[in-house]
Amino acid sequence: MTLVDQFSRKINYLRVSVTDRCDLRCVYCMKEKMTFLPKSEILTLEEIERLCDNFIELGVSKIRITGGEPLVRRDIIELIKKLNFKKNKTNLKEITLTSNGTLLAKHAKELKKFGVNRINISLDTIDPDKYKEITRFGNLDNVIKGIKEAIKNKIKVKINVVALKNFNENELEKLIIWANKLKIDITFIEVMPMEETGIDRYHQFIPLDQTFNKLNSIFEFKKIDKSTGGPALYYQSKKLSINVGFITPLSNNFCSSCNRIRITSTGKLFMCLGQNDYIDFRDILRNDYGNDYIKEKINYALKIKPKRHDFLIEENNKPYIQRHMNVTGG
Ligand code: GTP
Ligand code: 5AD
Ligand code: SF4
Repeated sequence: MTLVDQFSRKINYLRVSVTDRCDLRCVYCMKEKMTFLPKSEILTLEEIERLCDNFIELGVSKIRITGGEPLVRRDIIELIKKLNFKKNKTNLKEITLTSNGTLLAKHAKELKKFGVNRINISLDTIDPDKYKEITRFGNLDNVIKGIKEAIKNKIKVKINVVALKNFNENELEKLIIWANKLKIDITFIEVMPMEETGIDRYHQFIPLDQTFNKLNSIFEFKKIDKSTGGPALYYQSKKLSINVGFITPLSNNFCSSCNRIRITSTGKLFMCLGQNDYIDFRDILRNDYGNDYIKEKINYALKIKPKRHDFLIEENNKPYIQRHMNVTGG
């Protein structure tokens, strides 16, 4: 069974946001003061599992748990345990996580036990003061401890770095060398114009094609064929033992090979990260509809999955997307 959209793209990757909450407030992601959703609006574990089952039956093979910060949800390990039972007995082949790493030291062992072999950790700087600044109050030590604990438990870690003008643009080489010492892959991401955060994206954005050229003159990258199922293009260097990835939604659009869809913590299915349309599954889950109806709705969603995002970063331009990144978790 394969899910195919209106442009013949094969969709096998479901990103599931389990909470909109987070213990940080990264300045490119959220406003300082955020109102989070009441618990009654958030899907229960059973509701998430039922939705996942339907996607898996239709051909989804990779599930990435996101947030907000997924590890702040109390029953998160239980969900991962339930999903892990389905791995290899169904179409499901991989369960992964995107996390800010602050609570990873506590959870790494259990995550590994329940089949999480790969985690992407958001970390934009390894300078403790700058880390505090970008996350508004985070403690870098907790994240480093989390990364080390994950490595100790044989979870493959990848670092996600959002490249930001006048913030970490001169630290990227240092971040690569740091990741290389720990033998973990690293990926650079262009900032995307989601809902307003109080800082004009124009003053944050660096096109990564320029950054690539600068780093390339140091590392002499060779493009490799590797794909992790996400949008990154990966490179290797004779000077490094790790893979370095680039995610370039604005400078080099990758939507023609899109393979993913997203469920929010309240059960909205967003067919594209960079568009506003969604289909709400919560009422369907909470009323007396069968799984055939859920599958019918999923198939309909793919018929209307947009061709691409319409992200645009210009000075004084209001963002066209009406939600913060914590709603879909990237
Ligand atoms: P793997 O390939 O499995 O490592 O994961 P991934 O890159 O799909 O997931 P991750 O959560 O690490 O995403 C990295 C960054 O890429 C995040 O900032 C996401 O917002 C961004 N991203 C992921 N998927 C898309 C997408 O479909 N469109 C756009 N524009 N950005 C995306
Ligand atoms: N643009 C690009 N990436 C973002 N992230 C959060 N907000 C943005 C944004 N506006 C990243 C986080 C994390 C992933 C889930 O999304 O750093 O790695
Ligand atoms: Fe939290 Fe991630 Fe957003 Fe930062 S980017 S505020 S860690 S959800």
